[in-house]
Amino acid sequence: SVLEMEVEQIKKGSYDHFMQKEIHEQPHSLTTTMRGRLKDSGVLLGGLKEYLKTIRRSRRVVFIGCGTSYNAALAARPFVEELTGIPVAMEVASDLLDRQGPIYREDTAVFVSQSGETADTLFALDYALENGALCVGITNTVGSTLSRKTHCGVHINAGCEIGVASTKAYTSQIVAMAMLALAVGSDQISTQARRNVIISGLSSLPSKASEVLKLDAEMKELASSLIDSESLLVFGRGYNYATALEGALKVKEVALMHSEGMLAGEMKHGPLALVDENLPIIVIATRDACFSKQQSVIQQLLSRKGRLIVMCSEGDTSAVCPSGSCRVIKVPEVADCLQPVINIIPLQLLAYHLTVLRGFDVDQPRNLAKSVTTQ
Ligand code: G6P
Repeated sequence: SVLEMEVEQIKKGSYDHFMQKEIHEQPHSLTTTMRGRLKDSGVLLGGLKEYLKTIRRSRRVVFIGCGTSYNAALAARPFVEELTGIPVAMEVASDLLDRQGPIYREDTAVFVSQSGETADTLFALDYALENGALCVGITNTVGSTLSRKTHCGVHINAGCEIGVASTKAYTSQIVAMAMLALAVGSDQISTQARRNVIISGLSSLPSKASEVLKLDAEMKELASSLIDSESLLVFGRGYNYATALEGALKVKEVALMHSEGMLAGEMKHGPLALVDENLPIIVIATRDACFSKQQSVIQQLLSRKGRLIVMCSEGDTSAVCPSGSCRVIKVPEVADCLQPVINIIPLQLLAYHLTVLRGFDVDQPRNLAKSVTTQ
């Protein structure tokens, strides 16, 4: 009805689409995720307090989710391992169920879901509960089935997300898991200095997110150069393997363009065969311990005439592309393990603009649903 349409427009404010609004909201949603929880001395997560000791004693953390929520967990995996010393296993919910994979009483199973209602994730939760694991929920939806059935958890408080393609929930999920890692690891003296770096990195995220959002016009321009491409590859590694998967997922979900996120370390083992002067390839090469490896990936792609778009830290243009033949996306630097929160934002903008320019429905992509409640 006309009234419904008007209400929709009011909710969107000055934006054309919910996805666009939610991308631009991230400085605020990241703030609300951390509000009242992040202190100079550490983090306070009310929903986990009573369970921290049990989590510390667990033999394994198993992250379980679907789609974007799985990718957020993958982004969190390196710092959870680093700060807790507990090995982390990754499970796509449906695959865990297909294999009836082993879950033990000594496991902490962490379920990540924006809606808290995804059927695959909820069936995996029942399965983990039956197997006696401690079950932790990371969700955006207070009162959801996930938040009710898990033993404990963290609400990400990103605010209601309406666009089918998840954006602000992804960055808030990563931040919630960073706070979880800080809380679980808070008894370790040897990592105190590192924890302090991450805490100050977290508090700088909202302002860095505002900064990176200024790339909007540049990403629109990049989108217009990719509008007729059949495919787009995204190479990442280390902290930003998840960024590659999530960037590619956004492009395929909303822009309806074939896109694959790949581990840069696997490039030589197959994907290199695809490289030519037409296929656009995004390489994520922001500063971290993998930087020099990414520099050599870029060189190998350029020597095969690859059409490269390199995401790098400010000031690194000539370090990533001395020949000047790549297009670069310069992003502000944060603590290395939090860089995925910033790096995904230009890719969300790219997917958004690509969708609009290609004339597809941004908020209701073909064949997809916000919350998949059937198996
Ligand atoms: C659907 C949505 C995705 C979402 C996934 C998991 O596939 O289209 O955007 O990432 O479900 O949803 P959840 O609510 O569990 O995070």
